[in-house]
Amino acid sequence: MMLPSSVRLVEVGPRDGLQNEAQPITTEAKVELIEALADAGMPVVESGSFVSPKWVPQMADTAEVLARIRRRPGVSYPVLVPNIKGLEAALDAKVEEVAIFAAASESFAQRNTNCSIDESFARFAPVAERARAAGVRVRGYVSCVIACPYEGPVAPAAVADVAARLMELGCYEVSLGDTIGVGTPAQVQAMLAAAEGRVPVGQLAVHFHDTYGQALANILASLERGIAVVDCSVAGLGGCPYAKGATGNVASEDVLYMLDGLGIHTGVDLARLAAAGDRISALLGRPSGSKVARALAGKRH
Ligand code: HMG
Ligand code: MG
Repeated sequence: MMLPSSVRLVEVGPRDGLQNEAQPITTEAKVELIEALADAGMPVVESGSFVSPKWVPQMADTAEVLARIRRRPGVSYPVLVPNIKGLEAALDAKVEEVAIFAAASESFAQRNTNCSIDESFARFAPVAERARAAGVRVRGYVSCVIACPYEGPVAPAAVADVAARLMELGCYEVSLGDTIGVGTPAQVQAMLAAAEGRVPVGQLAVHFHDTYGQALANILASLERGIAVVDCSVAGLGGCPYAKGATGNVASEDVLYMLDGLGIHTGVDLARLAAAGDRISALLGRPSGSKVARALAGKRH
């Protein structure tokens, strides 16, 4: 089994996790979480989104969050932007990286962004162009790479097509998301085989939700295909407001424990990461969604 010797972890908890929380979370708690994740060694901490506050009120304070965090050199703090209005806010906040988000299914594109896949690309084109002109890196997301909560199974060719279109807009990397966490390893490898036919494997990332408990198996299956960038969410925070029934993202602590065990370098410290996850879980008033974090906490008592 040929696995990469190092993996870049992309921490999405402060955005993909907290965007889905019903209870309000203070700006201060978000700032503390983001700083703790960067201090734990996360090279990328997705820190919010400049989307319509009517659609996702939980991210309405992203500008304030970005103004208040202490930005560590070498750490990237990307934000999601759906349109030019979002990009302008991101540029005002002096971000160095933004993410645009497309879907491989028409129904999900409609529910998530109120437009068709083609219309979403018409919106993204000027966003990507202006971002790049301003020296801001652009990451792309594809949602529903295995199945859509409204349409069912999604063809690997449709995923590959959307990923290739994001690359044509100038994204430096495309993250492939199993938004509802239904995929199993053979399906994931078939989807990746199609995507790798259109996008170099070094520019692909994977983004799993753990709804059916398959996320770690799917990550290992992805590593076997040469993927070396993995999205994850501390304490397993998350879900998706437009994907009913989707539980949290794969927990960062669980991914890191597996990678550490495989001898794969990440630069992230498990104890510090778990402490960040325990702190936000305590603030949310519930146990961590990470099995590793719960096991580590159990050992301390
Ligand atoms: P719309 O209603 O069609 O847009 O929404 P609109 O242009 O008609 O604007 C409606 C209102 O929103 C207007 O305000 C705009 O000014 C405002 P009003 O005039 O009514 O007072 N507005 C904005 N405000 C702030 N920032 C903006 C912005 N844009 C418009 N950027 C839109 C279209 C795309 C804006 C909306 O659908 C939206 O915000 N969607 C975002 C949904 C979202 O954030 N989803 C979660 C992220 S994706 C995800 O989680 C999946 C991922 O993790 C991968 C995976 O798991 O698979 C990435
Ligand atoms: Mg997600």
